[in-house]
Amino acid sequence: MSAKKLGIIGGGGHIGLIHAACLASLGYKVAAYDLDDRKIKNLQKALVPFYEPGLEELVKKGLEEERLRFTGNPEELSDAELVFICVGTPALPDGSADLRQVERAVEELARLAQGPVIAAIKSTVPVGTNRKLSQQLGKLGLSHKLTVIANPEFLAEGSGIDDFLKPSRIVVGGEDPQAMEKVVAVQSPSAAPVIKTSWENAELIKHASNALLATKISFINEVAAICEAFKGDIRIVSQGIGLDPRIGPHFLEAGLGFSGPCLGKDLRSFISQFGAVGEDALLLEAVFYINLKQLYSFVQKLEEHLGGLRGQKLGVLGLAFKPGTDDVRDSHSLPIIRHLLSRGAVVAAHDPLVGKSPQKDWLSRRLPSLQWAASPYEAAERKDALLILTACPEYRELDLERLKNSMANPLIFDGRNLFDSREMKELGFEYIGIGI
Ligand code: UDX
Repeated sequence: MSAKKLGIIGGGGHIGLIHAACLASLGYKVAAYDLDDRKIKNLQKALVPFYEPGLEELVKKGLEEERLRFTGNPEELSDAELVFICVGTPALPDGSADLRQVERAVEELARLAQGPVIAAIKSTVPVGTNRKLSQQLGKLGLSHKLTVIANPEFLAEGSGIDDFLKPSRIVVGGEDPQAMEKVVAVQSPSAAPVIKTSWENAELIKHASNALLATKISFINEVAAICEAFKGDIRIVSQGIGLDPRIGPHFLEAGLGFSGPCLGKDLRSFISQFGAVGEDALLLEAVFYINLKQLYSFVQKLEEHLGGLRGQKLGVLGLAFKPGTDDVRDSHSLPIIRHLLSRGAVVAAHDPLVGKSPQKDWLSRRLPSLQWAASPYEAAERKDALLILTACPEYRELDLERLKNSMANPLIFDGRNLFDSREMKELGFEYIGIGI
């Protein structure tokens, strides 16, 4: 199928761009379309709008070898045989997903397609959406032109390329076995397990996967609270739990909870889907509230410990929603910093990737009184407390003696449990983590 031309709608976003670059690296001709002209112009010059390890190199290679093309004109997808729909499904105020971008993309593609085209829906959509999209095409008399296949993605930021090239599984849902087979064939460079199923099962697999990841995190955070009460160490408890092969070690790191553009949004959407069919999402509601509680109790503990925030000089390490990315969308760091500033604290923040990326300007506009530190040491200098909000690996390697000597008060509030509390105390820090 390598001679076939593939298209991407939403080619400038995290998911779309990773798909475009990886598919080009597999030898396909890929046209990546995005509405955002500025992104497209930059991508044509191989300027990637966000940080993702290895992505810039793949984009450059794809452009040089003329396998990858970025365009602001949807008509350039009209001769593609398979188009991946990678547009956003942002949360509406009630938590449900806004599907307008997906609906528009599918309809536009069906109208401009020269021959029959397969639309592989990568966007995370509520259960029943792919069937509705297909029915809608029928009503418009466009069914013969476009076949809708549910094809959820499981890419995590920071490991997106590996996740694409070595997928844990490929899931396709639909009613056209041949089209499903084509979608699988294009993206299975490795011998990944394949699930071919209905539209609804594919949609449910995606939602349930993200909901279970979120559940594991809220579970360990709940255990962290009782751990603290008994002066236990959640990191050791977590290790002991994760060694059971039936449970596994992943997503059992206690801390500030899950943040970022996907887990929280998808969880709220899933909960609202339960409501829509008259079912209760008791467990998932709890998962959501435990996650909120993590944030509030962290800030409350800090405020109580310092006896108020007014005039406190605070350093923050970590702005991105997780290590290895410069993505600050829905990062916990933002509401925490906003709260600290609104209570009269002076805050200086450092982040190894955000500090060097266009996200810095975006954040500066939203948090104008936030000061930027060029290094973690600068963030800590003369501060009354240092807050660790993202588990960036470089923070684990800090010269702690140097850090302590530069602080006005050697107090660390660690929302990611990067250090051993006993060792930190021996070094002369007052060290407060989560569940330790
Ligand atoms: C997630 C899913 O992992 C991915 O499969 C899906 O396609 C998109 O959503 P991502 O948003 O990149 O990926 O982040 P993820 O690695 O899942 O982390 C989400 C949040 O959970 C981060 O804030 C992270 O710090 C937090 N987390 C993760 C924990 O608090 N504890 C853990 O043990 C693991």
